[in-house]
Amino acid sequence: MTEWWQRGAVYQVYPRSFADSDGDGVGDLRGLRAHLDHLAGLSVAAVWLSPVFPSPMADFGYDVSDLCDVDPLFGTLADLDDLVADCHARGIRVVLDWVPNHTSDQHPWFLASRSSREDPRRDWYVWRDGAPDGGPPNDWRSEFAAVGPAWTHDERTGQWYLHSYTPQQPDLDWENPAVEAAMHDVVRFWLGRGVDGLRIDALQRLAKDPLLRSNAGSDRRHDQDWETAHERLRGIRRVVDEFPDRMIVGEVYLLDLPRVVAYLAGGDQLHLAHNFVFVHLPWDAEAFRAAIEEFEALAEPEAWPAWFLGNHDHSRIATRYDIGDGDDGGHGPARARAVALLLTALRGTPFLYQGDELGLPDAVVPPDRVVDVDGRDPERAPLPWRPPSVAGPGAGFTTGDPWLPLVADAERLCVERQAADASSTLSLVRRLAALRAGSPTLQTGRQRMVDAGPGVLAWLREDDDDRLLAAVNFTSEPRPLPVDGEATLLVSTDPGRPPGRDVELGPDEAVLLRLAGG
Ligand code: GLC
Repeated sequence: MTEWWQRGAVYQVYPRSFADSDGDGVGDLRGLRAHLDHLAGLSVAAVWLSPVFPSPMADFGYDVSDLCDVDPLFGTLADLDDLVADCHARGIRVVLDWVPNHTSDQHPWFLASRSSREDPRRDWYVWRDGAPDGGPPNDWRSEFAAVGPAWTHDERTGQWYLHSYTPQQPDLDWENPAVEAAMHDVVRFWLGRGVDGLRIDALQRLAKDPLLRSNAGSDRRHDQDWETAHERLRGIRRVVDEFPDRMIVGEVYLLDLPRVVAYLAGGDQLHLAHNFVFVHLPWDAEAFRAAIEEFEALAEPEAWPAWFLGNHDHSRIATRYDIGDGDDGGHGPARARAVALLLTALRGTPFLYQGDELGLPDAVVPPDRVVDVDGRDPERAPLPWRPPSVAGPGAGFTTGDPWLPLVADAERLCVERQAADASSTLSLVRRLAALRAGSPTLQTGRQRMVDAGPGVLAWLREDDDDRLLAAVNFTSEPRPLPVDGEATLLVSTDPGRPPGRDVELGPDEAVLLRLAGG
C-alpha cells in the first residue's frame, strides 16, 4: 500500500517567513491558514512547520521553552488546531518539528536544573565539573562555529553544561529514563491532537558517548551518533505507532550515508531520513548518480528514500548552483527548475522548502540586519507574495517591517506575478506536482539509471502501465539524449524550448518523457 508520505511532496514552511497576518513583521499561523490555496496548488501531501512553540527565539524557535504550546508570536494552540483542521479538509497532512535534543535555557526544566546541584531536575541535563586546567570538561564544539566550545560554565553551581548548539539550548540528558519518558509524552501530546507526523530535529545528537570522551585522538566522534541512538529511536517509534498512520522523518545530519541509512533499518526506526550527503553534492551528474545509487545499494528494499536539496539551514538552490564551470554565474534559475524536476521524478518523497517553488535566491542581508548566529538569514528571507510596486515594501508578506529583508527581485519573483505567467518556475512546479499526483508510476514505479553520456543524469520510472524517462543536463552545453523508439515530451524545464528539438537537452535543462510501449 502506498502511504500518504510516499505519494506527494512534503512542503517545509518556515513560519516566521511565510505570511504575516497581524503586521508585526513575523509570519504566523493565521497567515499560513490564509494561504493554503498555495499549498493545494502544489499538490503537496503534507506541510512541515519549523517550530512554532513558545521560545525566546535565540535559535528562532529551535530553543523551545514550552514543548506543548504555541508561541503568541505565531498564535494560539486553537490556531494550530484550526490549521490542522483546514489542512485535513484539503487532504494535506501536518508535520511538526519536534526538538528532542535540547530545550531553551528558559524552559522550567532547565531553570530548575541550573538552580542547584541537588535539584531533582539537575540530571535532566548534562552537567560536569571542568577539566583540571579549569577549562571545559572535554573538547566538544558547538555545531555553530561562532559559538565555540559546546560547554558553558555556570557560576552559581560551579559546573559546566553541555549545548550542542547555542548556550541558550542546553542538551537534555537522554541517558536519564525520566527525560526519555517526558519526551515520549510530548510526542503523545501532539499526535493525540491530530498532528500527522514529526520531523525529528538533530536526531544524531540524541546519543553521545556516556563517558563524554574527547573527540580528538579518536577515529570517530563521541559527541553524536552513538550506538544507543538506535534503541532510543525505536522507543520513539513505538510511541508513534500507538497512533495510526503517522510518520517520522529524521534530520540525521551525518555526511556518511551508511550511518544515515542505519536510522531507516529494520522497519522500526524512521519512516524517512533527510539525506544531507545530497545537499552537499556539487552540480555534477556523476556525483548525483553515485549518491542515488549508493542509497539504493545500502538501504533495505523497504526503506523509502526522501530527497531534498534545500531547507532553512542551507543557501538556496538558485544561489548555491548559480556559478558554472569557468563562468560568473547566471545558472541559478535554470538549475532551480531542473532540481524541481529531479525531485519530482526520483523514486522517493520530495521535500520542498518554501520559496523553492519560486526559484528564490538567497536574500542579501546587510551586516546591521544579521540576526542568526550561524549565517542562515539569507535563505530565511520572507516569501514575496505580491509585487512591492502594488503591495508596498512588505510584498504581501507583511504590512509592517519584515523581520528580515526580502529578496532583491521580489517584484518579478513574487507568487502573484509567477502565477500569472505560464513560463514561470511556479507554473512549472505546479505542473510537475500535478503530473506526479496523477501518476502512480512517478509515485511508486521502479527506478533504473540509464547511461546518457557525460554530464547527463537519466533514469527510467516504470510499472506495468507506463514507462517514463527523466533526464537532467548538468552541463552548460546542449547534450543529445538517446531514446529508443518513440517518446512524448511531457515537460521541459526550459520555457523557451524550441518545438521539435526532441531528443536534445539544452544547457541546464531537464525533461520528462513518456516512452512508447508503456
Ligand atoms: C537543526 C535545525 C536548525 C537548528 C538546530 C538546533 O539543525 O534545522 O535550524 O539550529 O537543529 O536545533
